[in-house]
Amino acid sequence: MKSPARLAQILFPAIVAAALGLGPVATAAETSTGSGAAIILTPPPSAKPRINGAQVFGVRPGTPFLFTIAATGDRPMTFAADHLPAGLQLDSDTGRITGVLNKEGDYVVTLHAKNRLGEASRPFKIVCGPHIGLTPAMGWNSWNCFASAVTAEDIKKAADAMVSSGLINHGWTYINIDDFWEVNPHRANDPTLQGPQRDADRNIVPNPRFPDMKALVDYVHGKGLKIGLYSSPGPWTCGGCVASFDHELLDARQYARWGFDYLKYDWCSYRPELETHRKISEAFVSTLTNWINSFPENRRDDMRPYAIMRAALNRVPRDILFSLCQYGMGNVWEWGAQVGGNSWRTTGDIRDTWKSMSANGFSQISNQPFAGPGHFNDPDMLVVGYVGWGPNLHPTHLTPDEQYTHISLWCLLASPLLIGCDMTRLDPLTLSLLSNDEVLAVDQDPLGQQAKRLVKNGDLEVWTKDMEDGSKAVGLFNRGDSPAAVEVKWSDLGWSGRHRVRDLWRQKDLGTFQNDFGAMVPRHGVELVRVW
Ligand code: GAL
Repeated sequence: MKSPARLAQILFPAIVAAALGLGPVATAAETSTGSGAAIILTPPPSAKPRINGAQVFGVRPGTPFLFTIAATGDRPMTFAADHLPAGLQLDSDTGRITGVLNKEGDYVVTLHAKNRLGEASRPFKIVCGPHIGLTPAMGWNSWNCFASAVTAEDIKKAADAMVSSGLINHGWTYINIDDFWEVNPHRANDPTLQGPQRDADRNIVPNPRFPDMKALVDYVHGKGLKIGLYSSPGPWTCGGCVASFDHELLDARQYARWGFDYLKYDWCSYRPELETHRKISEAFVSTLTNWINSFPENRRDDMRPYAIMRAALNRVPRDILFSLCQYGMGNVWEWGAQVGGNSWRTTGDIRDTWKSMSANGFSQISNQPFAGPGHFNDPDMLVVGYVGWGPNLHPTHLTPDEQYTHISLWCLLASPLLIGCDMTRLDPLTLSLLSNDEVLAVDQDPLGQQAKRLVKNGDLEVWTKDMEDGSKAVGLFNRGDSPAAVEVKWSDLGWSGRHRVRDLWRQKDLGTFQNDFGAMVPRHGVELVRVW
């Protein structure tokens, strides 16, 4: 049973919290983002140290290691690590771990973050072997904000803002350039997109908006962040820029020379018939024949271009996360891991509408069993904050409740989290949505499980995700147009007796509950809890 005060508190948290004198339970703030008054539920981070972000990290032997310990709390802060394996060093001021591991194995390290108010410690497992991306990638991508207008300056500013906003302290890591860093002969009237497509050695050359790719990469790395880029297996990207067909190995080598850490590889102009036109890479691709022939015949054409780029990435001495993008064709979740994808898009492009976001997120049902550490379903990037696909940006059209649904659902789904907004205009609600460490911990849980839809009752849905510590993250969703009570029964979880429930957005224990837990959930909203 829920008390009327509890129901009202869930419905109108800020107003009731103020009326009941509940203090830090929730604070209300007006922002210009979304429609109506935005309610900020995430409490500000403590001034005491707290270590956030991934607890498990994969690295291939012999490749450059970079991991920045994410920690909130007052600065100055000093970092330490016990049992760091030989080959790695920690910078005690920045919390950056760098170096190279040469021997495969699991290394369990204890991280420490200390300031004048105290010290936090947390175990961190480094897994040196063939697999990387063991938890979903967290970062930013240029597309939903700048689209075809992106420049190197925009990328630098996004990296600056990732640090100055404090998001880096919550585990946000990647700064990804999407389409339009390459030359584009199809837009001949835009001089900033013209130039040589490749150099004398057939290496890809960026367009004039990216005059020094190496310097840009070094700049981003210099902030303790990682950097990604974009290409397509066909001759042209989706925007008509130069892409990788017949140049896969050359491109992978160039990405590695520049120092990139992430590749989004977007189908677009690829067609299986292109394979008969391979020349430059014929010898390389012929070494893959046996592998490709082992794929199911009805999927071979879908898998081939991704297998070729994966094989190319495997040959370079750098860990490059591989993000497949082909909108879910051919049930990509069934074979994305087999071609070495660290994630694969399962849907078409997201927009900042309830229809688009909810359709992308709530459709992730049959692909659930295929997600796991190192390979995740990707229902596309986040549409909170100022978005607009360049150059005119607008505050997301999602209401605050829809934004809570969006982030809660993506975390339950163990989806890659790629912020799509203008990082230089992070308003308080957006920042609070992206910096709740207990919510982000659902996404980053080392077990790597994707939530299952446990209950569907009309517009009301309950999604549950198994967590490594045996607890469950539970999302009570209301997709309908008026507030409704949503509940989860312990028996549906295979549990009986009393269980402890914590509200993750408010970071507040709600008590122990017998048989079930329920809440009034606003229109298009969510109550996200963790149950032990
Ligand atoms: C689309 C892709 C978008 C973006 C765009 C670039 O196919 O889904 O996320 O990358 O291409 O042209």
